[in-house]
Parts: sequence; structure tokens; C-alpha cells
Amino acid sequence: MAQSTATSLIEIIDLTKVYKMGTMEVHALRGVSLSIQPGEYVAIVGASGSGKSTLMNMIGLLDQPTSGVYRVRGTESQKLGKKALSDLRNREIGFVFQRFNLLARAPALRQVELPLFYAGIGARKSKQMATEALTLVGLGERTHHRPEELSGGQQQRVAIARAIVNQPSLLLADEPTGALDTRTGEEILTLFEELHSQGLTLIVVTHDPDVAGRAHRVITMRDGLVVEDARQVPHKPAVPAAVAVPAPPVPPPVARTSTQPHIVLETLDGATA
Ligand SMILES: Nc1ncnc2c1ncn2[C@@H]1O[C@H](COP(=O)(O)OP(=O)(O)OP(=O)(O)O)[C@@H](O)[C@H]1O
Ligand SMILES: [Mg+2]
Repeated sequence: MAQSTATSLIEIIDLTKVYKMGTMEVHALRGVSLSIQPGEYVAIVGASGSGKSTLMNMIGLLDQPTSGVYRVRGTESQKLGKKALSDLRNREIGFVFQRFNLLARAPALRQVELPLFYAGIGARKSKQMATEALTLVGLGERTHHRPEELSGGQQQRVAIARAIVNQPSLLLADEPTGALDTRTGEEILTLFEELHSQGLTLIVVTHDPDVAGRAHRVITMRDGLVVEDARQVPHKPAVPAAVAVPAPPVPPPVARTSTQPHIVLETLDGATA
């Protein structure tokens, strides 16, 4: 897609990735080009093995492409050394995975403090920032709970708090609702919409058409290539969130209006207490 590069958050030009396994080569990406502007909400879809996670790993600076150009805010990633690369990743990018990837025994607060530790932020400031991030995702009351003491949806919200605690520009989520039932997944999508409305750029890989439907742009991959890139009007939730949004009191005898109640994060918080 031809876009101005000056404003792009990320720009990918003819990216390839070949995995070598002994004498065999797997061409996971075969020439992907796309740009994403700040504030976009993008879904990436496509059959299993089409290269979605490989592309996410490249976008997230977790792995290097075989060829092509990848720029984050105009900085070409291949020209950076290890340290500059990890600084760029820490500053700009947060990750959320299907299996949450939490530490088994650490309480929520520790999980969220971890990236701040790596960023060299002091203990007191880290605790404050981690508490704020957990409160933002509706887990202000669960900061001392370990993963085993949290529901799947709550564990994913801890992972989201960990991903956004550094205030990145870009949140990458690979099948974030894949391990959750539909209603719990809806909690996560509601949270994503809230974060998006606050200015976060989101890229979500999904097999679920309902999840993709919530994005503003859908990129379809097949055999290591982008085969479709379409903007859309985001769909409304297919089912209500597991956390019911209380309807505002309607004073009788005034008839109900069609206005949707504004979904606020405190609703998630209150309902998990
Ligand atoms: N580390 C690796 N080493 C070798 N081959 C790999 C590696 N990672 C991925 N592949 C191969 O690259 C291709 C793309 O894989 P990728 O994980 O990106 O697909 P995907 O679209 O995310 O699939 P899924 O929907 O199943 O998660 C596949 O053929 C896969 O087997
Ligand atoms: Mg994958």
C-alpha cells in the first residue's frame, strides 16, 4: 500500500524470511510490503502457516528478516546494533501472546514490573507504574495474585498491563483471545478498544472473524504474502463482554434511547473485585 513514509509508525518493504532447517529452507515471508500509521487498529488474518507470527516477530524486532527493509518511526532496524534494537523495542513495542506467557509463581505486580526492571527504572517508580497499568486493565485489586489465582481473562489482562506499562506506541497481540472463551475474549477486545481510543496502535493476529471484525483494517496473508489489505467499519461486539456493563439508571417514565452506555475501565475493575 503506497503511504507517506514520513508519518508511518512502521514501514515494511519487500520483507522476506527464510528459515533454514538442515538442508531444507522454509520461505515464511516471500516479499511483504506494508505501512502502518500511528493510531491504526489492524487485524492480520490468514491460514495456519501463512506467516502471521513470523511477520509479528519481525514487526516486534524479535527476529531479523532475511532481506528487505523494516523501519520503525523512520529508523531502519537492520542498521541498529543489539543494544539500540532492544532499546527501540522496549520503548515502542508491547507484546501479548495467546498463552499469556506469565511467570508461573510471580504475583501480578512483579510480572508487570519486569520490563521496567530491564529498562533500568527504580523500584519505587516501577511499583507505581505497574500498579497504574494493572488498575488501567481493571486489576487494581489483584496486584498480589499469582497466575494460578487468576482467571484466564485476568491473566491475559496482566499480560496486557505488562505490555503497556512502558507506554509503547504499538501493541502486538498474537491470538490474544485464542485461549479464552468468547465472553472472556470480549473483555479483552473491550480493553483493546479502550486502549486504541487512548491513542495506542494495535496489530492483532487472529483466526477469529469476530475478532478481526473489530479492527479498522484487515490484512490477509497467504503463503508468506499479503494478498488483501482492506479498511472496514469496525463491527460491534457479537456477544456482550463477560463483565456486564451496567445500564445507566433510566428515570421513569422517560423512554430508553438508542444511545450505548459509554464503556469505562472502572466497569471492568468493579466487576472483578
Ligand atoms: N523457527 C522456525 N523454524 C523453521 N520454520 C519455521 C519457524 N517458525 C515458523 N516456521 C515456518 O514458517 C511458516 C510460517 O509460520 P508462522 O508461524 O509464521 O505461521 P502462522 O501464520 O503464524 O500460523 P498459525 O496460524 O498456525 O500460528 C510455517 O511453514 C512454519 O512451519
Ligand atoms: Mg502463528
